[in-house]
Amino acid sequence: MTENFEEIYQAAKKQVKAHLSTHRYEHCLRVSDYAVKLAKQNNLDEQQAALAGLVHDYAKERSEADFLEKIDEAKLPKSLKAWGNPIWHGVVGAEFVKDELGIEDPEILQAIRLHTTGGLHDEMTTLDKVVFMADYLEEGRHFPGVKEARAITEKSLDRGVFYQLSHTLAFLADKGQVIYPKTFDAYNDWANYLKK
Ligand SMILES: [Fe+2]
Ligand SMILES: [Fe+2]
Repeated sequence: MTENFEEIYQAAKKQVKAHLSTHRYEHCLRVSDYAVKLAKQNNLDEQQAALAGLVHDYAKERSEADFLEKIDEAKLPKSLKAWGNPIWHGVVGAEFVKDELGIEDPEILQAIRLHTTGGLHDEMTTLDKVVFMADYLEEGRHFPGVKEARAITEKSLDRGVFYQLSHTLAFLADKGQVIYPKTFDAYNDWANYLKK
């Protein structure tokens, strides 16, 4: 990435810490670590993965009013306003990262946008997949099946993405919760793609 990576990383770390509760800040550090691990396995720039993982939830604890204001300010689709924090902190969160942390790497910003929704197989870059999976698999996660999910992802990042998409979808549907259309599209697309 850049020569002064350590400086950029430490500055971002300070900001992330200042804007999040301790438990979520620590989650971000673990996602950063897991993203580095996945980056190594998938021939990806480790520094870029570390930074993307660190800042992926930067905006998670912003108020509803802050998100609604940012949607207008960044001229994002008004339809986003019908959703809530689970979608906003990724899709809109990238705007906070750009504006407040000064991170302009479009690949990092996209990885933040997609980390809550997933994306189509030909839309998701390796970095997007790494952040998406690191968020799900970081060492603080203890859901049933996490070991299986880690093993699958170690063998195939793509299989890991599909595992997460299908399990998240099933989990939300089981609880009768709404599912963001992009997540549905991503699930169908990956199901077809991996069938071949
Ligand atoms: Fe998140
Ligand atoms: Fe997260």
